Parts: sequence; structure tokens; C-alpha cells
Amino acid sequence: MADNVVRVCSQADIAPETVKAFEVGDKRLAVYNLDGQYYVTDDECTHASASLADGFLEDGIIECSLHAGAFDVRTGAVKAPPCSFALRTYKVILQGDDVCVDLDKDAAGEPA
Ligand code: FES
Repeated sequence: MADNVVRVCSQADIAPETVKAFEVGDKRLAVYNLDGQYYVTDDECTHASASLADGFLEDGIIECSLHAGAFDVRTGAVKAPPCSFALRTYKVILQGDDVCVDLDKDAAGEPA
């Protein structure tokens, strides 16, 4: 495993079309299961202090439960105001049943 690849959870922890938050070191990450594809982002909304895992997930869009801002969980792109800053995404690496992330890369595999 590369230095900054860490295990977040088991694939079985996330039912299809749901999201759950996990503490990983000093971070709190949200893991999404979109029809068997896993995506990981920061759990904290970029608008204010709210957990996106408490939000509503539909068609790859997470709607924040606090002010209804929204993001595409695959890219981190803002999809609805009042959010204006993109959400940090992480490169997902599946190892056996484990969902791992590279903390140094975004979902597209670019340095972040
Ligand atoms: Fe998420 Fe305001 S805290 S939209």
C-alpha cells in the first residue's frame, strides 16, 4: 500500500444508494455506494458545518440536510446553492472487501 493509502471501511458497510461517514485519522470521510461503485469525499459540507452523510443521496447527487446545497459525489462539483466551493474527493482503491482511499489524490487520480 502506498504511504497515503488508508482503509476507510468494508464494501459491505455501505448499502447500495446510501452514504455513511467514517473517522479516518483526523479526517471524517463520507463513503457513497452508487450501484456498486464507491466514491469518497470529505463529510463536511463546504458551506457550513454539516455532515453530508446526514443528507439525501439521489442519482449521485448529495443534498446537504442543513440548507439544501448539493454536490456531485463523483466529481465534488457544486450542484445547488448556497454551496459555492467544490467538495474534496478522494481516489478510491478497492482491496478485497475493503474500501481504501489515496489521501493525496482526488477522484480523478489527480494530486489534491
Ligand atoms: Fe450544507 Fe449549508 S451547510 S448547504
